[in-house]
Amino acid sequence: MEKIFQAIERSGIEIAKLIDRDSFEYSDSANTSGDNQLKLDVESDKVIEKNFREVTSIRAISSEEKDREVEINRDGKYLISYDPLDGSSLVDVNLSVGSIFGIYENSFRGSNLVASAYIVYGPRVEMVVAYDEVKLYRLAGEKFHFVKTLSLNEKGKIQAPGGTQKNWLPHHKKMVDDIFQQGYRLRYSGGMVPDLHQILLKGGGLFSYPATTDKPKGKLRILFEVLPFALVFEKAGGYGVDDKSQRLLNIEPQHLHDTSPCFFGSKYEISLLKKYYG
Ligand code: AHG
Repeated sequence: MEKIFQAIERSGIEIAKLIDRDSFEYSDSANTSGDNQLKLDVESDKVIEKNFREVTSIRAISSEEKDREVEINRDGKYLISYDPLDGSSLVDVNLSVGSIFGIYENSFRGSNLVASAYIVYGPRVEMVVAYDEVKLYRLAGEKFHFVKTLSLNEKGKIQAPGGTQKNWLPHHKKMVDDIFQQGYRLRYSGGMVPDLHQILLKGGGLFSYPATTDKPKGKLRILFEVLPFALVFEKAGGYGVDDKSQRLLNIEPQHLHDTSPCFFGSKYEISLLKKYYG
C-alpha cells in the first residue's frame, strides 16, 4: 500500500507542474461521460497511469477518462479507480481542482474499498489519505509533509449544494432552505474536491449533489468521485449517504461510469437530511 501512496504523491507533484505550465486547449476526444476532455485531463491521466504501472501490487486501474478497466499486473492485489483531474473546467478561471483515488481489493465495489486519497491543487497543493485515519499532507518543494489528522465535528456551519436549482426536487429545495435558515453559509465552487476539502477542514457541513429532474441519478460518478469521498468522510467521523439515506459505501455500481445522488456531511446535517429524504 505504501508504494501506491508514493505513486499518488509522485502523480500529484507532476500534475501540479502540468497545471502550472500547460495550455488549456480542448482535445479532439470526448470521454465516456460525454465531457469534452481538456488536454490537461488527458495528460494527467497519462501521468497517473505511468506511475501506477511501476507498482507491482496493482492489478488493474480504471480512470474517469478511460472507457474500460486496464490490467496492470495479473498477480497484483489492488484495483484503483481514479479521476485524474476533477473539475478541470475550473482551471481556466483559476479555481481549485483535484485528483481522486479509490483503492480496492478483489473488485470495484464500496465494500471492497480499503483506502482512498485525493489531492487538491489550490494556492497550496494538499493531499488527504484515508486509510487507518484521515491524514492531511502539504506539498513543500518536492515532498508531501504530514500536517495533521482530520476529524469532523458533530455539526458544521457551511453547505455546498450542487446541481441546477431549477431542477431540484421540492423536498431537496426545502432541506437546503432549512439549512440556510439555520444560519449555514453557502460555500460552493463547483469543484467537488475543494468543496469537500473545505467542509472537512472546517470540521463539518453538508455537500449535496442530488437527483434532479434532468439528472435523476445525479451527476457524480460512483467509482471515481463518490466512493473515495464516502470513505474519507466515514473515517473522519462523518457520513456519506445517497437519496435513500443508504450508506454510499454499500452501493454496487453496475457499470464503471454509473452515477449516484450523494450527500456528505457530519452527524447533524445527515440526520437533518433523513428528515427530508426519509
Ligand atoms: P467536471 O469534472 O465535469 O468539471 O465536473 C465537476 C463535478 C464536481 O467536481 C462538482 O461537484 C460538480 O461537477 C459540479 O456540478 P454542478 O456545476 O452541476 O453543480
